Amino acid sequence: MPGIVVVGAQWGDEGKGKATDNLGDRVDYCVRYSGGNNAGHTIKVGGDTFILHLLPSGILNPGTTTVLGNGVVIDLDVFRQELNALAERGVTVPHPLVSANAHIITPFHTTLDKVTERFLGKRKIGTTGRGVGPAYADKVNRVGIRVQDLFDESILRQKVEANLDFKNQVLVKLYNRREIDPIQITELLLSHAESLRPHVVDSARLLNAALDEGKVVLFEGAQASHLDVDHGTYPYVTSSNPGAAGACTGTGVGPTRIDRVVGIAKAYTTRVGEGPFPTELFDEDGEALREKGHEYGATTGRKRRCGWFDAVVVEHAVMVNAFTDVFLTKLDILSGWKKIPVCVAYDVNGVRHDTMPMTQSELHHAKPIYEYVDGWDEDISAARTFDELPENCKKYVAFLEQRVGCRISGIGVGPGRDQTIVINDLLS
Ligand code: GDP
Ligand code: IMO
Ligand code: MG
Repeated sequence: MPGIVVVGAQWGDEGKGKATDNLGDRVDYCVRYSGGNNAGHTIKVGGDTFILHLLPSGILNPGTTTVLGNGVVIDLDVFRQELNALAERGVTVPHPLVSANAHIITPFHTTLDKVTERFLGKRKIGTTGRGVGPAYADKVNRVGIRVQDLFDESILRQKVEANLDFKNQVLVKLYNRREIDPIQITELLLSHAESLRPHVVDSARLLNAALDEGKVVLFEGAQASHLDVDHGTYPYVTSSNPGAAGACTGTGVGPTRIDRVVGIAKAYTTRVGEGPFPTELFDEDGEALREKGHEYGATTGRKRRCGWFDAVVVEHAVMVNAFTDVFLTKLDILSGWKKIPVCVAYDVNGVRHDTMPMTQSELHHAKPIYEYVDGWDEDISAARTFDELPENCKKYVAFLEQRVGCRISGIGVGPGRDQTIVINDLLS
């Protein structure tokens, strides 16, 4: 069972990091295939908390080789800082590998991300400000700077200059900002070349060879299906393909090599940044979910918007990613509610929609239609088997399973490594 993809089923922060880490040393390769340091994956090991933005979550397992695939955008300062921070905490990390084809986030991308958002004002996306969108725009525009360019100084200089010839005009004339010096940027990038070189590989060749040998390769999604630039709530999305298909384009592994696609879904819903969110709560229930669930962004510290589970949203993710399994996280947070609403359809201007509406305008007008499941009072954080869960809690899981149309194979009952209920082993 070698190729397995982990994908967020909602708008991010579902607990992908924990679910990935949870599979432990049984994973030979853990690969990030999209996004950059806009991600924030939190992993709790005993009393220690680690937040990884760029490095794959498998890095905390000494037996796992980690890889940043060609689909990732890399801020080289962040790469170095995350490795140093782990080393300072005494974590011996296996040598992460980096695709020669991955694109680089430079300081001019980060600047452009921030000034564009400011310029958009009320129409802003609410990005993380990490330069991710501008770096992907350059990639698609065929002017991006790739990891391999660091090893050809003259090419690198030409590319940085060509970029800034144009971007400085935009920065100065449109945004009223100072010019960025191409020499400084080139020197900064070159300063990383020597230390980065031993990490750089042809990751497509490496991962295909690993799969040929029957190794377990886990593709760790960042962001989520509804933040996917093609399948998400455009334009309130990220600029890459976090969905399952992105695992193929973002690594050079073909779709027939993927055996399992696991959707990570929170037992309720959260979203950071702007964009439609039909089940969003503005009352004390929303506040209670935020406080109980510690729903504050792992990357920017922003308050996460909170709401009830939206089965319409997750069913869409099941469909476009062809999930084989769903891993339901943070079920423990729902203890204590008398009745738990689950959104099963939308009312759009008086018309019932059982699935995601086709257009963005309809989604903006969608009002949730709820069904109510009886709640439970018990603390479930010590449960380790499905049978140990209270009856109503089991009914809630069964209800979600039936509504989203995919089996639930694992349940998270706390942030700790061991706080997981396995129903179907994800690696068997
Ligand atoms: P990711 O971006 O998908 O990896 O998720 P984040 O790390 O941004 O947010 C998930 C948060 O929930 C983290 O603080 C995790 O430690 C925590 N978490 C993950 N699974 C569970 C769970 O089953 N129960 C509880 N209470 N917390 C969880
Ligand atoms: P993880 O991997 C939640 C959101 C931002 C913004 C939009 C675009 O931790 O689940 P970007 O900086 O990517 O251009 O911002 O996407 N966003 C996330 N929201 N979790 C994430 O990652 C996110 N990565 C990006 O808040 O709305
Ligand atoms: Mg996160």
